[in-house]
Amino acid sequence: MNCLRNRIIWNILLVIAISFTACTGKKTEKKPVSQVSVSPEWQKLALTPPMGWNSWNGLGKKVSETLIRETADSFVTSGLKDAGFTYIVIDDYWHGGRDSATGLLYPDPKRFPSGMKALADYVHSKGLKFGIYSDAGTQTCGEQPGSFGYEEKDAKLFAEWGVDFLKYDYCFCNDYASENNDYKMAIDRYKKMGDALKATGRPILFSICEWGPRSPWLWGKEVGGQMWRTSYDVHDFWDKPRNKISPIGILTSLDVDANLERFAGPGGWNDPDMLVVGLKNKGNVKGGGCNEIEYQTQMSMWCMLAAPLMIGCDVRNMDETTRHILLNKDIIGIDQDTLGKQGFRVFRMDGIEAFKKPLSGGRVAIAFLNRNSTVKKVIVSYKELELDPKADFRAYDVWKHSDVKQPAGALSADLKSHESQVFILAKSKDR
Ligand code: GAL
Repeated sequence: MNCLRNRIIWNILLVIAISFTACTGKKTEKKPVSQVSVSPEWQKLALTPPMGWNSWNGLGKKVSETLIRETADSFVTSGLKDAGFTYIVIDDYWHGGRDSATGLLYPDPKRFPSGMKALADYVHSKGLKFGIYSDAGTQTCGEQPGSFGYEEKDAKLFAEWGVDFLKYDYCFCNDYASENNDYKMAIDRYKKMGDALKATGRPILFSICEWGPRSPWLWGKEVGGQMWRTSYDVHDFWDKPRNKISPIGILTSLDVDANLERFAGPGGWNDPDMLVVGLKNKGNVKGGGCNEIEYQTQMSMWCMLAAPLMIGCDVRNMDETTRHILLNKDIIGIDQDTLGKQGFRVFRMDGIEAFKKPLSGGRVAIAFLNRNSTVKKVIVSYKELELDPKADFRAYDVWKHSDVKQPAGALSADLKSHESQVFILAKSKDR
């Protein structure tokens, strides 16, 4: 009886609410979290996943202006710039300190004698963009001065230096490595810097590096971020089992990000961390190194996931295999596809997985991944891949750079251990 009465009351309230909205013509609008208005340039940031290089994986503490200048030069000479890699980002350890009188950050005078403005100008003179790193806590992960309490001051300084990209870490925040994850504090701290960046008027891409425990994919965009880390640091490992903190391997990071496709899209991307391609255990992040097939698989899968592509190896001295992997414009084209859809897992059996990524122009990319330590022959029907079973697709192999013959109504591949193969399917008439 009570229940019936409640239902009637609810229905009456609903009718009143609907009539009120209809009469006034007003819709209940969700208020955006950020109150700072943004220019059209801001809205254009990261319409496709950001691409560039970051000093951490390769150089760690050794970063210097000479190495950054040489990296910028190599972007041009190696073809990386032409392939779409744009941002050159200095990670932790650029700092000299924070001036106690002015409160301004300054770079290490030995490693950055010309200062950050001159370095940014140099990077810009090559047609590239310049990025820097700070932290939402009192110190960075490398115990350098953090931006907590100095958000406006630091954002203004970065804008004056000509910074185009800020990676913002989460060390030295109260609960940064505890089980008791304080979502609200993380949202507040990232929003503070997100707003400060917007207030500078300079379009600065905001890269949230909270590592995932506080689900930044749920709030990253609202606090002004264009990308947010979904995992702890990927080191030079193929498979380092799921871990509460760093380091993890390529597979672990892939598995976290592979469930988050609905949170990515133009203007905001899931970031499964940087590429370890080409590190060969010689970088700052170790792990024993991966083989060439595994590095190629990281590139393929990161592109299928529409992940930001931040190179970590020494691009001044890339060997042929590293160049072959990083400069493959066909696989990069999948990452950068303007439809902006993150791929997702569509099939899994006996350690073989298939990922699917819808592309512009009605095309679709399918990637097979062999997680086994043995070779595998695979044949998966269009039906299992959730494709039209009767479609007459042509299959383009992005690593062979040619169309490949396939059985009717299915895709097949011979996969080496840890190999992935990626195909772009297009209806015959669309190619
Ligand atoms: C970690 C971050 C790394 C790197 C490092 C620098 O928290 O995940 O990508 O930035 O700090 O100390």
